[in-house]
Amino acid sequence: MRRREFIAGGAALGAYAALCTDGRAVAPRPPKFLFMADHHVESDFMERGKPVYTMWKPGNHAALAKTYEFIGSDPYCRDIDFALFGGDQLNTGYMDHPVEMAAEKANYYRTLESLDLYKRTKGTDVSDLDFRSPESFYCRGNTPRGYVQKPIPFKKLDSRVIAIQGNHDTGVEDFYRECSFKCGDTRFITFFASYVALPAPPGKFRSTARISDESVDFVEREMAAAASDPSIRHIVLACHWTVVLGDPNFKWPIFDACKENGFNDNRKRILALAEKYGCDLFLNGHEHNGKYPVGKAGPMSVVNCASVTGSSAFAVFEMRDDKAVFSVYSRAVAEETPEGAVNVVETPRRLCEREVPLKPIR
Ligand SMILES: [Fe+2]
Repeated sequence: MRRREFIAGGAALGAYAALCTDGRAVAPRPPKFLFMADHHVESDFMERGKPVYTMWKPGNHAALAKTYEFIGSDPYCRDIDFALFGGDQLNTGYMDHPVEMAAEKANYYRTLESLDLYKRTKGTDVSDLDFRSPESFYCRGNTPRGYVQKPIPFKKLDSRVIAIQGNHDTGVEDFYRECSFKCGDTRFITFFASYVALPAPPGKFRSTARISDESVDFVEREMAAAASDPSIRHIVLACHWTVVLGDPNFKWPIFDACKENGFNDNRKRILALAEKYGCDLFLNGHEHNGKYPVGKAGPMSVVNCASVTGSSAFAVFEMRDDKAVFSVYSRAVAEETPEGAVNVVETPRRLCEREVPLKPIR
């Protein structure tokens, strides 16, 4: 019988290992992680700017805390190596509501404290993740008129919960834009794209983000390093946005190199890099329309997690040799009574299991 646990104590604190029940080490099983995107509560979004800002209504807060509580106690979900939050955790990214940003961040971290993985790893050694990110970033897009761009420093990784930025998180320095980390035989690379709000041509779909040259450079450096690392078999890309068009089969060519987008064509460069270095999985959120859950883009299987899981669900992935298997779970639901009480009316449950093909580089 095999169990997986964080090793407590000394330099190994925070590292994972697979152990037999008699303590003998065995080969670690494939990387397993949680992916959750698009926390933001749509129905509350338009309340921003009102005197009483209720993005984190007591019910919303309680429901997410209950979801984390489930993840932290369910034997399958709890047994993850890390959690990757795929963007739009908050609704604060516009940088012109600093008070609201501070309040949302406080609530976010208070809720995150209920996630067992976060509690277990915060402040401990996470060096086995070989985490890398640029030292700072410039906030692009979603900035108020007259805003002077200045570098925003990234914080040092201090837990196995890694949040990347979406268009609603743009100014949140706690979340990563470009970053890279390793888990088992897999290198995970994330990058950022800024929101440009392009109109879709009639009857078609066009994603609405622009990838900077610096982001592409980061992806290229990290992919090249991963491809030359003999311990790496899979390269996973993650971004809040997709790099492919959202048709059901992901067959349409990319056509974001247009006037409104400054003729930026960096998604083609990203896809070319994936082809060159053998990236076999792409994860994104953002487009929670429910229509385009999985597909292919060059060598990559693409999972639009916002469609697969919806903005009220999450998934646990396992990176096996030739496929990624992911289990989709619903999140908890809570209602508020007129008297102000909060009742959790639905607890998380497993909805389905799906898989997409992987092609290891070695
Ligand atoms: Fe988004």
